[in-house]
Amino acid sequence: MDSMVRTERDHDIALIYIQHPSVNALSQPVRHELLQAVIAADESAAISAIVIMGSGKHFVAGADIHEFDAPPVSPLLNDVLLRIENCRKPVIAAIHGSALGGGFELALACHYRCAANDAKFGFPEVKLGLLPGSGGTQRLPRVIGVNAALDIMLGGDPIGINRAVALGIVDQQSTVDELLARSLQFARMAIGKPWRRTCDQLMDRAQIDTAFFAQERQRLMTHDTGRIEAEGSAQEAIIQCVEAAATQPFTDGLALSRRLFEERRVSVTSRALRHLFFAERGSRSAVRASSAYIKHVGVVGAGTMGAGIATTMAIAGMYVTLVDSQPAALSAGMLRIRDIVATGVRKGRITGQQGDEVLARVTGAGDFNQLAGVQLVIEAVVESLVVKQAVFRQLDAACAPDAILATNTSTLDIDAIGSFTHRPGKVLGMHFFSPANVMRLVEVVRGRQTSAETMATVLGLTKRIGKLGIVVGNCFGFVGNRMLYAYGRENQLLLLEGATPTQIDEALKEFGMAMGPHAVGDLAGLDIGYRVRRERHDLPTDPRYYRIADVLVEAGRLGQKTGKGMFNYEPGSRQPVADPEVEHMIIAEAKRLGVTRRDLTKSEIVDRCMMALINEGARILASGIAESPADIDAIWCNGYGFPRWRGGPMFYADCVGTTHVVNRIRQFSSQPGLEHWTVAPLLEQLGLTAQGFSDWALAQQRARA
Ligand code: 3HC
Repeated sequence: MDSMVRTERDHDIALIYIQHPSVNALSQPVRHELLQAVIAADESAAISAIVIMGSGKHFVAGADIHEFDAPPVSPLLNDVLLRIENCRKPVIAAIHGSALGGGFELALACHYRCAANDAKFGFPEVKLGLLPGSGGTQRLPRVIGVNAALDIMLGGDPIGINRAVALGIVDQQSTVDELLARSLQFARMAIGKPWRRTCDQLMDRAQIDTAFFAQERQRLMTHDTGRIEAEGSAQEAIIQCVEAAATQPFTDGLALSRRLFEERRVSVTSRALRHLFFAERGSRSAVRASSAYIKHVGVVGAGTMGAGIATTMAIAGMYVTLVDSQPAALSAGMLRIRDIVATGVRKGRITGQQGDEVLARVTGAGDFNQLAGVQLVIEAVVESLVVKQAVFRQLDAACAPDAILATNTSTLDIDAIGSFTHRPGKVLGMHFFSPANVMRLVEVVRGRQTSAETMATVLGLTKRIGKLGIVVGNCFGFVGNRMLYAYGRENQLLLLEGATPTQIDEALKEFGMAMGPHAVGDLAGLDIGYRVRRERHDLPTDPRYYRIADVLVEAGRLGQKTGKGMFNYEPGSRQPVADPEVEHMIIAEAKRLGVTRRDLTKSEIVDRCMMALINEGARILASGIAESPADIDAIWCNGYGFPRWRGGPMFYADCVGTTHVVNRIRQFSSQPGLEHWTVAPLLEQLGLTAQGFSDWALAQQRARA
């Protein structure tokens, strides 16, 4: 095996390179080799100083997250860092790219830090349900004080070079090209001079105030609840450790942080968040295949979706031609883009000048002829195959033969849409979520004939625009909406069976969903699903299927936009208010359909909805519509408000056990009125052997290799 740490010499300075692509994660062999290299350099009489650097794009992006699924193996990062800190000669970290988590901890254990202009420092552990486990909680407060250290650790977002210099993290700043030379020069100057170990630095007594930590805990309690559920204990642990840094000897604080890290490492929350970390990177592998660089995009349809997509592309630096044949719709769309950009400037996400540049990149057009020079078109017109047929025929004629044509459909058949063109290999789905400029997820839908090159190009593009592109197959609703229909079937049926809309929404919010399903329906507009259901001919014949939603739409209750839907809304408010009239409508409909109403418990409500998601997810996996259970989880956590700290529906199934899921579904199916419940064959097979979806995915991966 190639070595992961390499030592070079520059006269009496040892230059230790960490070279573990792609991000120099500190896995066990790296730690082992780094420790050996440091000991050798420290013990060598010919060496007077040590510089540690990362090869490739980053310094070190942290511990190897894969390793957290098993107990820690020696040498522990903590021990390696203590050995570095205890070197008898100056040790300098030369940092470029990311110094995150364990990478930042490594930099803090060195005696000095030289950093390039592209350096980023941060502790993203909290996003993994963890805390910095190798001294970061003890060393960072000693370098920059308690307040700033807590800010960085509780937030989890990296800081750039300017803030790092201002805080005193960086001793010397340089350009990227000069980093090595300047670090060697710095090391040379440090030789023979006294230096201070971070662990010996005393805390500023003014900051050591127990009231301060009480306030921080209070602030945590009032933070939004989803995040507390997800990361609350990690954040609490961080506060505890920083308090120890401020009040206890270094070694005690270090031992505490190590113990709390271990507790968090084995927690379900951290396992779930780590699962998502990799799930959200999975589909990116295809990006590395051949992919064209898109510079100019056409967006067809200037509605909310089209304007959101156009803005996203323009913010990412692309030229955009927004086409709408209706002049009024086009000017409304251009205005919407201005509004989105103005909000971005107001909130400080972009500067005023950047905002002007974004707007200058967007051109409005009334016909498809303006799209002759674009490399990609994203169609975002109404959800109707007939309308899309006309649009794709015209696009096929107007665009260059090598241009990619994408549809933003959320349900329709990509192969049918591809067949309206002479380039089905260049047709695919890009299912954005609303609002498109905010939501991170894009389902990238592969048609039967979509080429690998087309997929790679679009996946590369989704990464460039800061979105999470997940590859899905072509079927009604793809992955996300197909599962949504199964989930909706149950939460609609529960209404007829006796649960109120509020009861259902509250139960699912308590489970962790960002919003209750009935409030979501009102937000999206109940008429949208109503229209889609009218276009489908393969729906269940069950007269109870989405019956309440249909009744509401037929009564003119379309959701927030009409002030009334499943709930009522005061003018200007998005707060759902229960309406007794809806309750009466539900009771009347249940009576008409002969449904016996009863009291339903929270756990039954949650289980009916969750098992529906899992069961449909299993069918989707078996049919190859999703490439992995992790992809389904990434879709549901990023597009449908599934709680990240539960890891997604398929990870949740593994946590409660597939055997339990099968048994629960069997219990449902044995009840009168729930005969539509049948266990998906893949789920049945896993339940029999008590295997999880992750076991299945691993076996599939091995079979493919
Ligand atoms: N461990 C293991 N693998 C990692 C990793 C890590 N810490 N960080 C990144 N990777 C892998 C990714 O899974 C991906 O693998 P793939 O090629 O097989 O898909 C590959 O490295 C490249 O990652 P990205 O696609 O994310 O590359 P980008 O260039 O877009 O981003 C990055 C680079 C900003 C460094 C980003 O990868 C990142 O944020 N990494 C995570 C950093 C992190 O969370 N560090 C803390 C770890 S916990 C820790 O250190 C605990 C300590 O306190 C003891």
